[in-house]
Amino acid sequence: MNDDKIDSILQEKRIFNPPADFAKNANLNAEKLAELDKKYAEDPDKYWGDLAREELVWDKDFHTVLDWKPPFAKWFLGGELNVSVQCLDRHLDTGRRNKAAIIWEGEDGEQITLTYQQLHREVCRFANALELMGIKQGDRVAVYMPMVPEMAIAMLACARIGALHNVIFGGYSAQAIKDRVEGSECKLIITADGGWRRGKIVPLKDTVDEALANGGCPSVEKVIVVRRTAHEITWDKSRDIWWDELIAPQSGKHTPKSFDAEHPLFILYTSGTTGSPKGVIHASAGYALWTKLTSRWVFDLKEDDVYWCTADIGWITGHSYILYGPLQEGATTLMFEGAPNYPEPDRFWDIIERHGVNIFYTAPTAIRAFMKWGEEWPAKHDLSSLRLLGSVGEPINPEAWMWYREHIGHNQCPIVDTWWQTETGGHMISPIPGATPTVPGSATRALPGIEADVVDRDGNSVGDDEGGLLIVRRPWPAMLRTVYGNDARFKAGYFGRFGDKYLAGDGARRDANGNIWIMGRIDDIINVSGHRLGTMEVESALVSHPDVTEAAVVARPDDLKGQAIVAFVTLENDKPGEDLENILKQHVVHEIGAIARPAEIRFTPALPKTRSGKIMRRLLADIAAGRTPGDTTTLEDSKVLDSLKEQMNAKA
Ligand code: WTA
Repeated sequence: MNDDKIDSILQEKRIFNPPADFAKNANLNAEKLAELDKKYAEDPDKYWGDLAREELVWDKDFHTVLDWKPPFAKWFLGGELNVSVQCLDRHLDTGRRNKAAIIWEGEDGEQITLTYQQLHREVCRFANALELMGIKQGDRVAVYMPMVPEMAIAMLACARIGALHNVIFGGYSAQAIKDRVEGSECKLIITADGGWRRGKIVPLKDTVDEALANGGCPSVEKVIVVRRTAHEITWDKSRDIWWDELIAPQSGKHTPKSFDAEHPLFILYTSGTTGSPKGVIHASAGYALWTKLTSRWVFDLKEDDVYWCTADIGWITGHSYILYGPLQEGATTLMFEGAPNYPEPDRFWDIIERHGVNIFYTAPTAIRAFMKWGEEWPAKHDLSSLRLLGSVGEPINPEAWMWYREHIGHNQCPIVDTWWQTETGGHMISPIPGATPTVPGSATRALPGIEADVVDRDGNSVGDDEGGLLIVRRPWPAMLRTVYGNDARFKAGYFGRFGDKYLAGDGARRDANGNIWIMGRIDDIINVSGHRLGTMEVESALVSHPDVTEAAVVARPDDLKGQAIVAFVTLENDKPGEDLENILKQHVVHEIGAIARPAEIRFTPALPKTRSGKIMRRLLADIAAGRTPGDTTTLEDSKVLDSLKEQMNAKA
């Protein structure tokens, strides 16, 4: 056994019990957690039904908790509600009217605070404007925006009128916008002239123009533009509308309609294993219930807390845990436009100090960057307001976990490592900070009501310390309902392997204490800095370049990003032209966005294939990682491998 291994086993033995003070005041302590587990075990439908009645404001009560016809689940049948009412109206007569709902800080330091009453008013005004434009229940609205308050307002206004928002991360390219807008036939795009990123303008409107050029996105009738960067943009009078001019005449009163519990709330595209990204559909009541509950249980949100999730709202983490969860709980949620190291690497710590942030939720890739920048940056700031830390997006290595605990949490704050997915809507496996002993690197246990398990190929639960596939045995309210316009893909992707059990796509291990360790994806999804990318997406982008014949994309472990993209490419002409590596990297950025830029491109005369012609990505992954390639018996032509190995040696 080498030293590293001994070290990691020793590390795994470290256990941190919830601090006594924290446990005493926690929203959920060990006793209450056990009660919830017991209640669920006795009668799952009653458990969910009671929670739904206690937590949500219903316009019409439901008559049936769950209708489960695998793989299709319907929750809270017959019930009617409005999700924007859960986030806003319900707080207006509870003493929270003048409480900060959103504290926003722009990259340039500008600050805006919106109280619940003010946010409600802005959402009503925008909802009125949307209705006046003819946006109706069920219509799809694309949101391609910087992290400005209008983004939250736009999303909540869509929810209020029953239109589905389809948020597209502001770093995506015109082609990526086109795929997502055309795929879900959006009627409207809401954007901004630009956003700020490290002092530079991100030209969002230009990118939207490019997506709409030459008849692209034919379903789009109008483009609403928020004034943010005020730089010059091109303007199509018949199509483009300034946000401020649109809302100026609108009333701040809007009577919300009631929608069916199962009415789809939004679409969010995410990378899948095969083909193009898929539009995950979430339903109103179930999603609202679970994001609300998990915000209270996992983040221990209290009335006076300032809570900050550093994700972009363009990802599910931002949807669930900047917006819907915390607002339903009547919390104060902080929203930050910029980057963690602009103007200096202490920007986050400065924000925590100035706003008195109590709960901080970020990604392992960010934590590893903070480690690299040095502990002197957080040490400059008073971080004593913090009482809870969270992590999401990828496995957190024990070293990063310990650094986070020591240098940000000053050994006082529990850490919640939350495992979940775009598809799960909310947290699934996570410590409860006032109840669960934590272990660096483990997401610990499934939350009450979630029947997660680790199984072997045949679907049998694995023994202690054995690896397997992560599944969920029963449906839960925030589970995706389908893939937009493609029930077959939904079924095949998540329920194709173990019948009515949800296949997460992650590998995992359960230790002798019952803690679950997530090992990462078992399919061809790559997780770069916590962002999901399908190998197919990047490969299609590469082969769309005229010089490329074939491409195979694999992941290589990366100290900072978790994984990095390595592409193996064969060319039309054998010799790569000068600078082709950079040209192809740039091409991928243009086709998808900067998050998909390959770290490395290797040119090769041929790709290793099986006799039936399948590219052997596993061998390529070994080569990319500098490992000795594993089983090569099915390889069609062993010379290909030899030449790849030679190349690898030459590079080393
Ligand atoms: C990974 C992000 C380990 C996992 C919320 C999952 C994690 C994918 C964790 C979903 C975690 C997320 N520990 N791995 N705490 N959280 N993942 O859809 O591989 O962007 O399947 O949702 O991220 O990514 P998505």
